[in-house]
Amino acid sequence: MTIGTLTRMVAAGALAGSLLSGIPAARAEDELKNLKVFPQTISKRELVETMKEWNQALGVRCDFCHEQKVPGDSQSIDFASDKLGHKAAARRMFTMVQELNAGPLPRAAGEEDAAVSCVTCHRGLKNPATLDRVVLVVAREQGGDAGVKKYRELRDRYYGSGSYDFGPRSLQTVTETLAADPTGLDAALAIGRLNVEMNPSFADGHVVVAQILEMKQDKAGALAAVNEALKLEPAHRQALRLKQKLDQ
Ligand code: HEC
Ligand code: HEC
Repeated sequence: MTIGTLTRMVAAGALAGSLLSGIPAARAEDELKNLKVFPQTISKRELVETMKEWNQALGVRCDFCHEQKVPGDSQSIDFASDKLGHKAAARRMFTMVQELNAGPLPRAAGEEDAAVSCVTCHRGLKNPATLDRVVLVVAREQGGDAGVKKYRELRDRYYGSGSYDFGPRSLQTVTETLAADPTGLDAALAIGRLNVEMNPSFADGHVVVAQILEMKQDKAGALAAVNEALKLEPAHRQALRLKQKLDQ
């Protein structure tokens, strides 16, 4: 095995244990019954280390992928069973990561050891969509208030974990995307106001709220928002232009 292959397998999570502690290959009593993508020589210890990494990478427990015969009883898990679709998905994901790291990714990066692993995309989430995508989809399908609720739930649960970007740009993107469609103005306003509440010193957030209020013919509201932006950034060009227009 070359160093490159080794690095890539570690990145895919396949060898974590053995490199750290030099654990020997599988013993007879550790027989693993249903391996289709891991090397047949993997020891039980290495395999379980990899499984723990996957739990972390996806923010799940073992029974997300493995059939638990008795609900709530982790002793009843049948690890060899292929009943759950998530296990099949994980096999496909593992194969994809290996294929990517074995050629296309190092070639694209121009570095032999360039590699991704599960957590690169998943960031502790089953579904690795970014915050702006998640909030946009909910706001579009169920309205601005539902989008606001979704954001608050995610923030309560994940703030500080690194799973989502709670910086001001995420909600700004959602607000701008919604506002580009005239039927989305109310939802855009709800998300824009949420951003101002969460990130009050982000001048662009006040400006986009002012623009939406102006489109909704609320001149006084727009002026108040634009003045907030100018308090933060007196030379903000879009804010100055909008203020001029509103003052006419
Ligand atoms: C994201 C999905 C996923 C999670 C979470 C997961 N596993 Fe797995 N597990 C798999 C896949 C896929 C295989 C089969 C690998 C293969 O086909 O080579 C497997 C195989 C196994 C096997 C070998 C079974 C056999 O005899 O063939 C054991 C043991 C196992 N996992 C234990 C665990 C434990 C313990 C946890 C929790 C710490 C866990 N797994 C979490 C996907 C997962
Ligand atoms: C290049 C980015 C990327 C990498 C790397 C990656 N995944 Fe995924 N994974 C995704 C995306 C995107 C989805 C689809 C989520 C969706 O829209 O439902 C997904 C879905 C899944 C699902 C299905 C989740 C569900 O709710 O049905 C599992 C299980 C999974 N990945 C496991 C893994 C494992 C294990 C690894 C590492 C071996 C891995 N993924 C690496 C991007 C990635």
